[in-house]
Amino acid sequence: MIGRHAIEDARVYVSGFFAGDASGHDAWHTMRVHNLAVRLAREEGAHEDVVALAALLHDVDDSKLSPNTADDLGNACAFMRQHEVTDDDTQAVLSAIREVSFSKNGGAAPSSLESACVRDADRLDAIGAIGVARAFAYGGSHGRMLHDPTNADAATTIQHFYDKLLLLEDMMATDAGRRVAQRRDAYLRGFLEEFLAEWDGER
Ligand code: ADP
Ligand code: NI
Repeated sequence: MIGRHAIEDARVYVSGFFAGDASGHDAWHTMRVHNLAVRLAREEGAHEDVVALAALLHDVDDSKLSPNTADDLGNACAFMRQHEVTDDDTQAVLSAIREVSFSKNGGAAPSSLESACVRDADRLDAIGAIGVARAFAYGGSHGRMLHDPTNADAATTIQHFYDKLLLLEDMMATDAGRRVAQRRDAYLRGFLEEFLAEWDGER
């Protein structure tokens, strides 16, 4: 069981946890993933509380932010222990968190519907209008150029669209996620087309 107060406290916990982070893993990313994951869970009939808690805790053991707990998900475990989450729900939340990561689990299918909802929601936050904004925020904070048409290997933000963002629609694991992805991917492609046409002075 996951008590109501656990979900409420998790919101407060992550707001404090990410204070001041500019790497694209801020508390608002977590809140967006939570809201969307819960929506997908409702549409898919997944266990809503497991999805909600996994979404709220999905980045608190990220290796970039908390390298010492990245392997054992120590922050998420400690939070759930303090909130007396039952063992089966703790295990369900932990495997959903482990299966979110793009780099570690790119191709593997999620092991549960709950995992699938959280993973789809996290990936959906990288596309659409929010995804465009996050990509350029990330590029800016890493001193990257917007675009470099003379060098296909340049680490530009536009290159990130081709390397990752345009591939995400086909990586959805739920039907509900796929429906959201269709719209967000179309927005991304429209943005890219407009950007490149403006770049060449055509529009
Ligand atoms: P996650 O850990 O959730 O898989 P990342 O840390 O890779 O995600 O990315 C966080 C955000 O930063 C995403 O919106 C992603 O698109 C963006 N991002 C990551 N790498 C780049 C990059 N090289 N250029 C532009 N944006 C990036
Ligand atoms: Ni995330």
